[in-house]
Amino acid sequence: MTSAQTPQNEQDAPVDPTTTNAWEKLLAHDESIEGSLREWFDADPRRAQRFSHDAADLHVDLSKNLVTAETLDLLLQLAEETGVAARRDAMFAGAHINTTEDRAVLHTALRRPEGASPELVVDGQDIDHDVHETLGRIYDFARSVRSGEWTGVTGKKIETVVNIGIGGSDLGPVMVYEALKPYAQEGLEARFISNIDPTDAYETTADLDPETTLVIVASKTFTTLETITNARLVREWLLAGLRENAGLTAEQEKEAVAKHFVAVSTALDKVADFGIDPDNAFGFWNWVGGRYSVDSAIGTVLATVLGPETFEELLAGFHAMDEHFRTAPAEKNVPLLMGLINIWNVNFLEAETHAVLPYSQYLHRFPAYLQQLTMESNGKDVRWDGSTATTDTGEVFWGEPGTNGQHAFYQLIHQGSRIIPADFIAFADPVRPLKDGEQDVHELFLANFFAQTKALAFGKNEEEVRAEGTDGDLVPARMFSGDRPSTSIMAPALTPSVLGQLIALYEHITFVEGTVWGINSFDQWGVELGKQLAKELAPAVAGDESAIDAQDSSTAELIRYYRSHRTV
Ligand code: F6P
Repeated sequence: MTSAQTPQNEQDAPVDPTTTNAWEKLLAHDESIEGSLREWFDADPRRAQRFSHDAADLHVDLSKNLVTAETLDLLLQLAEETGVAARRDAMFAGAHINTTEDRAVLHTALRRPEGASPELVVDGQDIDHDVHETLGRIYDFARSVRSGEWTGVTGKKIETVVNIGIGGSDLGPVMVYEALKPYAQEGLEARFISNIDPTDAYETTADLDPETTLVIVASKTFTTLETITNARLVREWLLAGLRENAGLTAEQEKEAVAKHFVAVSTALDKVADFGIDPDNAFGFWNWVGGRYSVDSAIGTVLATVLGPETFEELLAGFHAMDEHFRTAPAEKNVPLLMGLINIWNVNFLEAETHAVLPYSQYLHRFPAYLQQLTMESNGKDVRWDGSTATTDTGEVFWGEPGTNGQHAFYQLIHQGSRIIPADFIAFADPVRPLKDGEQDVHELFLANFFAQTKALAFGKNEEEVRAEGTDGDLVPARMFSGDRPSTSIMAPALTPSVLGQLIALYEHITFVEGTVWGINSFDQWGVELGKQLAKELAPAVAGDESAIDAQDSSTAELIRYYRSHRTV
């Protein structure tokens, strides 16, 4: 993809996609498009090759989407008319495209290799220098924990690293840890606490030894209620445990916190207020959005447990996908094409949800991670100039690993009344090459992956159902319409680099969709009202009758129910 334009002024109004020539043509195309996937594949034996592209190590087959070459041409025209390439270049260059917060959006700078050129100086900050200096500090810290040089206050080696964070300060680290578990150092594990439901902190710490536990408090703002509350709970648990088991005295408490607590934040002053030594804090910057931050210092838990080398490979994978997105020609640019096909599915084919179905148990938290990435980014109907969006926006992302999902919700994807576009993800190499007798189990697994996308695309018609010996009323129930769109993403293996590529792929897909819709994908004002009301409701929940009476009747009754039923 090339851009003839210079990076756009961050204040430029978004182009209304419905006013473009491409949109008008897409509407007409939607009305006139003929055929089915079966027919398109029959008519063009090279359809799979023509609609498949490689991006870094990912092989992406778009051929089972409900698109023709003309659809893709028109979608690419839409991208041009809505300025996707120019805005992409503006993002990479550090323009303040996060208009409501007047910030640059530079998560791509977190994975630029050392010495990358041209150098990136934004708002007076030498970005590459600061990124690599912080990475160096994180790696030194990680190495000292891994080697046992860093010990707890009683001199014992660290065995468990507990990351306390929520949203972007949790979902990325958990997802990557689960995906790359085989890379964890023996004798060192990560755990995660996010929910303010106190059972989360309780259950996560229940079987841990405070003497061998290190806590990372991860919060971009360091004001998030859940994280700060959980950090206090765990500090209390740790100090009580050390007092009881190791005879910690009141004078040694400060030292214990220094040896067992580190922090990750953009607000280092607040870290100090919490009592964590600023020397034990790793910073990042307000140009990194929470849901785009797993590759920042938020990944300290990963660098520690999986190792600096693994983290470096992860970053290199992100960067490889960034380079693809930045430089690949539009007609082969995978994030661009996938983002545009999502626009086609949502705005023209009326899809409301989007399934992500990894055929890898290690990716079991990937759909949850993508929910924040995509829905907190594009779940908005206000455009970046304050005007209302002119089209449907956002997609409900959801999913589970195959084959589990096959036995739960795939029924709806195969035979439901709405289309649910699905991304299938699979790897040639198994992480655990196990055999059931002579049967390679990974092959059984992948046979399911191939079978599902085939069944969705081509279905089973009446003739085929009858040929199998079914007749009567059962025939319609056993028919599959086909034409259920899917994208297949394959890679040689689930390595750290490939995982980085996958994450960056979805970051850029999200960007493309947001840009076409005119949405600032980098703020999240929609989460504020609930937080504000939770604070305001605290007195009512604690039993202040006048505060309860001041509520709407539903809220007041629910609080009364709580007050009258709580027994412990
Ligand atoms: O409430 C939403 C949110 O602000 C997310 O965007 C963010 O990832 C999460 O909360 C956690 O925020 P923080 O890292 O500042 O604690």
